[in-house]
Amino acid sequence: MDEHSLSDAAVFKALKKLLSRDAQYSSDGILCSMCSEPLDAARKAYSLALEKNLGDESLFPGTAQIEQEAVSMLGSLLSNAEAKGHIISGGTEANITALWVARSLDKKGRREVLLPESTHFSFETAANLLELKLVKIPLTSNFTVDASKMRKKIGGNTLAVIGVAGSTGLGTVDPITELSDIALEHDVYLHIDAAFGGFVLPFLEDLGLYKGVFDFKAPGVKSITVDPHKMGLCPLPAGGILFRDQSLLSAISRSVLYIGKGRTKFTTITGTRPGAPAVAVWAALKRLGRSGYRQIVKQCIENTSILVGDLRQIDGVHLLAEPTMNIVGFTCPGLDNSIVVDALAKKGWALSLFPTHIRVVVMPHTEAKYLKAFPADLKTVLAQLKERA
Ligand SMILES: Cc1ncc(COP(=O)(O)O)c(C=O)c1O
Repeated sequence: MDEHSLSDAAVFKALKKLLSRDAQYSSDGILCSMCSEPLDAARKAYSLALEKNLGDESLFPGTAQIEQEAVSMLGSLLSNAEAKGHIISGGTEANITALWVARSLDKKGRREVLLPESTHFSFETAANLLELKLVKIPLTSNFTVDASKMRKKIGGNTLAVIGVAGSTGLGTVDPITELSDIALEHDVYLHIDAAFGGFVLPFLEDLGLYKGVFDFKAPGVKSITVDPHKMGLCPLPAGGILFRDQSLLSAISRSVLYIGKGRTKFTTITGTRPGAPAVAVWAALKRLGRSGYRQIVKQCIENTSILVGDLRQIDGVHLLAEPTMNIVGFTCPGLDNSIVVDALAKKGWALSLFPTHIRVVVMPHTEAKYLKAFPADLKTVLAQLKERA
C-alpha cells in the first residue's frame, strides 16, 4: 500500500484502465460464460445494500427477511415454496453445503457419494473438504447418468446420491425421478445440482419444451443448488442452496454467544456474509417475475435452435446431442478441438474446451449478430485448418 492517498479521479482513472482489459458481455463474442450482464434492477438493489451483513441478523433483520423471501421465491420456482436455505456465493458453496448437511445428518458414518460423470468439479472440492469418497457413475448415450448402474453401486457406505439438472458441459438433465426412487429405497440423501438449469427448466416446462421432473416434485430430493448469478441475471456472487425443510438445514446449525446473544443461528459456511446479493436476487425475481424470465429463456432457446441449425450445415462439425437447454456441445472430427478453440479465439470468440467437446452457452447476452457471425467464422477456421493438415 502506498503511504500517500490518491484523489478520487486518480483512483478511478487507474481502475478504469485496468478494467478496460476485461471482456464485455455486451460487445465481445463471449460464448463460454454461464454468467451474464446483470439486470438493471438487480444492480441498483445491490448498491443499496453494500454494508448489510447477513452474518448478524440482529442488526439486519430487514435483509434477513429479504433473503428468506428470495429463498422462498426460488423454492416456488422449484416446486417447494416452503424450502429453506440461503443466498450464498455460488454453486460451489451450495454443493459443499449440501454435502455438509448430508454428512451431518448421517448417523452411520457413511462416507461415499455416488455422482454422474458429468458433475461439476465443485463436488471434488466438497469431497476433499468433507473427507468423502466420490464414486463416478458412467453416462448413457444420452449423456445423462445411468440410473441402473447407480443403483448397483449403492452399498452400506453410500451417504448420498447426486443428480444434475443442467450439466455444465451439455445442459443435460439426469433421470431425477429414478434417482429419487433409489434414494428413498436405500435411505440415502439426494442432492440435485441445478446451478444452471434451475433458472431454465421451470420456464421450459411452462413453454411445453421440457416434460421431465427435475426438482422438489421428486419426493426423494432433499436439496437443490440454483444459481441466480447464472441464468438468474443477478450480480456475482449469488448462488442459492435450498433444502426441502428446516430440519435438514438445522443439521449444520451453530450459534455463538457474542452475536445476537447466541440467538442467531449460523447455517452457512461463512460468518460475515454479504446481504447485497440476496437483496439483488429479491429485486431481480420481483422485477422480472415468472413471465419475464420465461421470455428471456424463450429467446435463448430460439437462438440456440438457430445456432444448431447453422452448425448442422457445416461440413466437419458434429453435434454431440440435441440440446436440452441453451448449451450446445460439438466436435470437429479429424481435428484437435483445442486447436479449433485457439483458432476461433484469434477471431475474437471465447469458447469452453471440455475433454470431449467444445461448448457454446447461448446466454441472454448472446445476440443474433453473434449467432450469425460465429458459424461463418467456424466454417472459415475449419477450412483453413483442414488445408494445413
Ligand atoms: C452445474 C454446475 N454446478 C455448480 C457450478 C459451480 O458454480 P460456481 O462457479 O458459481 O461456484 C457450476 C458452474 O459452472 C455448474 O455448471
